[in-house]
Amino acid sequence: MKPAYYVTTPIYYVNAEPHIGHTYTTVLADVFARIHQAMGQDTFFLTGTDEHGEKIARAAAAMGKTPQEYVDDISGEFRTVWRALGLSPDRFIRTTDSEHVKVVTSILQKVYDQGDIYFGEYEGLYCVGCERFLTEKELVEGLCPDHKTAPERVKEGNYFFRMSKYQQWLIDYIRQNPDFIRPERYRNEVLSTLKDDIGDLSISRPRKRLSWGIPLPFDPEHVCYVWFDALINYLTGIGYPDDDRYRRYWHEAEHLIAKDILKPHGIYWPTMLKAAGIPPFKHLTVHGYWKTVEGKISKSLMSRTLKNMVAPLPLFEKYGHDAVRYYLMADMTLGLDAQFTEENIVTRINSDLANDLGNLLSRLVNMVQSAYDSKIPEPYDDGLGNPLKDQAERLHATVIDHLEHVRLHQAIWEVMQLVRRINRYIEETAPFKLWKSDRSRAGGVLYNALESLRIVAVFLHPIMPNRMAALLEQLGWHVDGSPLWIKQSKWGLLQPGLPIQPGSHLFPRIQAEIVEQSPPESATSQRPKEEGSMITFQEFQKMDLRVADILSAERVPDTKNLVKMEISIGDDKRVIVAGIAQKYLPENLVGRQVVVVANLAPAKIRGIDSNGMLLAAVDGDDLALVVLDKPCRSGTKVH
Ligand code: MSP
Repeated sequence: MKPAYYVTTPIYYVNAEPHIGHTYTTVLADVFARIHQAMGQDTFFLTGTDEHGEKIARAAAAMGKTPQEYVDDISGEFRTVWRALGLSPDRFIRTTDSEHVKVVTSILQKVYDQGDIYFGEYEGLYCVGCERFLTEKELVEGLCPDHKTAPERVKEGNYFFRMSKYQQWLIDYIRQNPDFIRPERYRNEVLSTLKDDIGDLSISRPRKRLSWGIPLPFDPEHVCYVWFDALINYLTGIGYPDDDRYRRYWHEAEHLIAKDILKPHGIYWPTMLKAAGIPPFKHLTVHGYWKTVEGKISKSLMSRTLKNMVAPLPLFEKYGHDAVRYYLMADMTLGLDAQFTEENIVTRINSDLANDLGNLLSRLVNMVQSAYDSKIPEPYDDGLGNPLKDQAERLHATVIDHLEHVRLHQAIWEVMQLVRRINRYIEETAPFKLWKSDRSRAGGVLYNALESLRIVAVFLHPIMPNRMAALLEQLGWHVDGSPLWIKQSKWGLLQPGLPIQPGSHLFPRIQAEIVEQSPPESATSQRPKEEGSMITFQEFQKMDLRVADILSAERVPDTKNLVKMEISIGDDKRVIVAGIAQKYLPENLVGRQVVVVANLAPAKIRGIDSNGMLLAAVDGDDLALVVLDKPCRSGTKVH
């Protein structure tokens, strides 16, 4: 039997329509499910909506609807949007589903019967936005840090879950299972919260104050607290307690969330499971926020929400579903915040997808069409080694290693490095010219390029299932479902003689008009009144700083310190000359990423036209290149 994998998203509140933040986690879950299918696993993907609680009751009242009418509408909206985006969870769960109400009721009763729920008086600061009591420590200037609102002081008789009883168990469990909560910064954050007494968790609201919730089985005058109800969806979703799916998937559960809901997932949920006698989930994987560039809306709203700003459907339709999926996955380092701008989407599409990947496919297919009768040419061994084969064969292990450490963006970057290598290989070997003198050899070059591109498409398939299936079809390779990585990433599967199927360009270049972004607040608010030797932000913006890849480097003959380099800034290739030879050997520069001033007027240095300038820190004779602390896309703007 295939090994199992179970992935969940948070169930979203229905007080707002889906926005790009919700979309990100849901696409991430879809990508993870597809990746695990590509690894040969039997997967289950759950998402849904969180429909009880005070927040929802208030939103319904504001719309003049009953809570049920209201939640039906917005939950339907989520479902429709996911379908339109091509996301197909195995189940869409709603906390108002009768099956869920039954499971919550049975867990409440069980925990109550064993004495882990008791009645008490409580007074605290409640944030309706978060739907939880906040501690004084969590407030910033008296306000909820996420919602920027003052929490309400609430005093009432409540039932409590003896969460503190399981505090030490949780600390030990997290320590013994280093990848239970990941990335590490969030594991540390939870462990640091657990250094203080976590207290017990209020898990009910008096019905006379809030009737929109699941009644407690042992006291119907109270309804269940929304978080206690909501977290249990992860069990209901796979048929807890009796269904086979529960037995099959639960021990492989991976919950995806953003950092806003770390405490309920990292502390409430594992202790609730422990009290209910249910084993913990396998991973809690936490990502950061998508934030917008400074602007009125993002300033006035809490940082995590992008609602009213970025509706997913128009965006996916404008730029293409797979292209936006690629942008979301490649531009966010899991665990850190990322900046959401349309400019970044366009840059990603034009540089990675249209130029590096799409153009490469078109060029290769055109060559095969015109020179090899539209059939995959024969491989050719020239005895000089095959750089593409070597790199392609290493890819599987590299990608898996990154994924095991939840570095999805790095895995994507590695795959795209192979694409860049293929492009360089084509330039180095020039099969179009070679073909005239040596047809077999040029055919071998094309075979290597096509086969590497096929392997690239196999790895990128979970991220861009439609476009990568189209790419593979053009190579005459038919895919059904997710191609299995281990099998289909093997070198040499592309059959010589197989007819290719030329098609349209995979990723048309976007000629978008980019809305000019306002400069960061600090740049405007701190602008000096006296100009003197300072420059304004606008002046600084004139400088076009870019990430560049060094493709080749050689010493300029008869000079002490000059190196001539060929660099690529996105799809733009140039030559630059720099005085760095005393500190850097040319062979050690090749393959490095540097920062260059891309719009410097050209200069002739020792007869060589130099187009751009490398950035380096210069201290007397000493010199250090400005480099990036992680790999970036060539051509990325440096601000
Ligand atoms: N209903 C609770 C979750 C209960 S799960 C048992 C809830 N809902 S929510 O609608 O507020 O969704 C929060 C989640 O939406 C985040 O954890 C994240 O997955 C996603 N995001 C919302 N805004 C986001 C960003 N700006 N950036 C990234 N993810 C975002 O909390």
